[in-house]
Amino acid sequence: MKNPDQQNTSASDDAVVAGRVRIFDTTLRDGEQAPGFSMDRRAKLRMAQQLEALGVDVLEAGFPQASPDDFAAVAEIAGALKSTTVCALARCQDGDIDSAARALQAARHSRIHLFLSTSPLHREHKLGMSRAQVLDTAVRAIERARGFCHEVEFSAEDALRTEPEFLAEVFSAAVAAGASTLNAPDTVGYTTPDEIAELFRYLRQHVHGADKVVFSCHCHDDLGLAVANSLAAVGAGARQVECTINGIGERAGNAALEEVVMALKVRAPHFGVDTRIDTRQLYPSSRLLTELTGQAVPRNKAIVGANAFAHESGIHQHGMLKHRGTYEIMRPQDVGIAATLLVLGKHSGRAALRQRLQALGHTPDDTALESIFARFKTLADHGRELHDEDLEALALGRDPQAAGPWHLLQLHASSHFGGSASASVKLAHDDGHEVGEAAIGDGPVDATLRAIERATGTALALTRFQIDALGEGADAIGHAQLSARHAARDWRGHGRSSDIVEAAALAALAIVNRIERQSAANPPISTIAAPTPGRAQQETTA
Ligand code: KIV
Ligand code: ZN
Repeated sequence: MKNPDQQNTSASDDAVVAGRVRIFDTTLRDGEQAPGFSMDRRAKLRMAQQLEALGVDVLEAGFPQASPDDFAAVAEIAGALKSTTVCALARCQDGDIDSAARALQAARHSRIHLFLSTSPLHREHKLGMSRAQVLDTAVRAIERARGFCHEVEFSAEDALRTEPEFLAEVFSAAVAAGASTLNAPDTVGYTTPDEIAELFRYLRQHVHGADKVVFSCHCHDDLGLAVANSLAAVGAGARQVECTINGIGERAGNAALEEVVMALKVRAPHFGVDTRIDTRQLYPSSRLLTELTGQAVPRNKAIVGANAFAHESGIHQHGMLKHRGTYEIMRPQDVGIAATLLVLGKHSGRAALRQRLQALGHTPDDTALESIFARFKTLADHGRELHDEDLEALALGRDPQAAGPWHLLQLHASSHFGGSASASVKLAHDDGHEVGEAAIGDGPVDATLRAIERATGTALALTRFQIDALGEGADAIGHAQLSARHAARDWRGHGRSSDIVEAAALAALAIVNRIERQSAANPPISTIAAPTPGRAQQETTA
């Protein structure tokens, strides 16, 4: 790391800009330390690069003193990022501060983030320190960290349960010792919007040197208030929000970055501030995190959930077709989602069905539409969500539920700890021939999908793979949902089985079958074949 006085000023430490809120992302520290979200170094680096593309001002890369791996991850990210300030967490202890400084050595813009509890509960039961000791420990640590780094953030852990006048005293001493960001975390997610706003207003009035520093909030979601509390803090003068992609973090998580950012953007006249975030990178960031951690977001998650821009009910679809503002307050493209999805299910009406069929190139007259609609309702009433392939089948007078032409006869998959996996499949085609193929892959599912690709001669570029358990305990059924690109189109397939590899194989076959049926319905002129009957085996839900 450069001498602190020679460091470039960064995106995060320029003079306080009244109208801009800094986004401090702690996905790789507070988020990653929560159960179920750990990432290896390669994954952390990939995520850090995406967060830089997203435009976060400060990226907390980890806690170097926690483990050699954490140290290495912070060092790697520090060396890789160009414009984002890379931050390392440290307790107010010499060893932590020195580790953080070493890990940040290669960073173009760096910050050491010190934290120490200030609340009476933590002082007594966790630290065994008096007020004076807390104050003294914080000041020494800040002075030491400033010896290494131009930017030092001080966090008063459990600030929202700290006596406000003591918090102001500690923060005043922190400013005098050289801290440039003062963070008041709601460590246990206890506060409410009006309370946190009052605290921030109090701090801005009572901290000596308040005008020289940035006040920051860091809210946990134990009562589901993290985003609301963060926005209330911004309303009261906080100019840095600490948050995470998908709201991951300790216990119930941290404030969700995408929610905070979009609230500030969509309600810009209300809040009167903005961020540097490229909001079109929000959805890609969320997707990448779910891929790297294997933890999906709920369908109804704000901004990035599968339903965030999806409409099924007939009344809503009708409104959306007339004016999208009727039921959407932001455009899906603004958060990086390609388009609004009018999901055709049992709540949908004729208007949405006709519109989707037209988009697919079918223009049924009123009588034909009526009969397609009747068939569509029967399928949808049985709980099916109908995708484009199904609608096309209906428009062509075919049964979208007819499975085949490929059927799974045999499947064998095995994996070895520390090695690759292999799979072999035997498939039967409705035209009477059988084919067997084997492949190796990164895991048994990957190997199975490759074997199916070989056997059917259909290349599938997988874009989504999700397995859910239906039911509980040993009797649970695996429900695999796959999406893949083929011939510049997206295809989806579902499969169910008590064996998850088999569920994935059935889902892949459902896709292959759809592709093959589709090309049989629109064949090149010389290859029209007689339709073959299906043997309902896969596609239990799609
Ligand atoms: O929640 C908290 O108090 C923290 C601090 C380390 C900022 O994560
Ligand atoms: Zn936290």
